[in-house]
Amino acid sequence: MQYTNIISTTVNGVNTILINRPKKLNALNSDTINELQVAMSRANEDKDIKIVILSGSGEKAFVAGADISEFADFDVEEGKYLAADGQHKLFDFIETLSIPVIAAVNGFALGGGLELAMACHFRIASDNAKMGLPEVSLGVIPGYGGTQRLPQLVGKGRAMEMIMTANMITANEAREYGLVNYVTTQEDLLSFTTKIALRIITNSSVAITAAIKAINANFMDGINGFNIEINEFGNCFGTNDFKEGTQAFLQKRKAKFPGN
Ligand code: COA
Repeated sequence: MQYTNIISTTVNGVNTILINRPKKLNALNSDTINELQVAMSRANEDKDIKIVILSGSGEKAFVAGADISEFADFDVEEGKYLAADGQHKLFDFIETLSIPVIAAVNGFALGGGLELAMACHFRIASDNAKMGLPEVSLGVIPGYGGTQRLPQLVGKGRAMEMIMTANMITANEAREYGLVNYVTTQEDLLSFTTKIALRIITNSSVAITAAIKAINANFMDGINGFNIEINEFGNCFGTNDFKEGTQAFLQKRKAKFPGN
């Protein structure tokens, strides 16, 4: 697939995907969602890609929401399909990817944009970023997982307030809330995020995949996360990465993980 709404580049195992509709503040239309799904899926399959950074192009927006022009005249069934299809195709898919995905929030992350950032494994924001779920101001609620992931990240009370008021919060407030891990200048955002990405990929990619599964299990209904952890922990003992990691420690040398 040739991309027209995103730009994907890979350097040293770090795949940076930029949503590239700056004139529409990178609003998520269906073509962009499809391209992001393909790019994430390719990143997951490509042995040369170890980690993904997701960001927006331009200086103003990460993603200013789902493209309102595409769903303004949908009916009830179309609305349900829109949410179900998007959640399944992209948002849940990103959350359960085997390699880490970091959102570098470079400006407005509103509605579907904040939901997209929240589906990533963690978030770093630039100091100009503004985040919010303004859906109730449009007569709708978040549909790409926002009512579920925002309370997981910031707690129920803050999520209720953010969703009910439809207000935006600043990058520093988002850090205080635990919604983003760091705040940088806009200029430094991608280099800072890349530095963390490069640090992550020195570790065992096989173990990181297991960690993603175990952490995600904490938030899955009807799943006992402790049991998933026991299982994933045990499975690590059967991997060459575990043999190398423990041997390297005992021999006082740096590990060279065969799975990387
Ligand atoms: N869907 C479709 N188009 C969008 C969009 C969205 N979610 N967000 C921005 N755009 C478009 C605007 O329509 C405008 O297009 P135009 O130049 O063809 O008219 C362009 O992006 C620039 O946006 P504009 O509103 O002129 O920029 P601004 O700086 O005045 O305001 C925002 C920025 C983010 C405050 C404002 O664009 C906004 O409120 N966007 C919608 C946010 C939202 O409700 N998202 C949740 C959707 S469920």
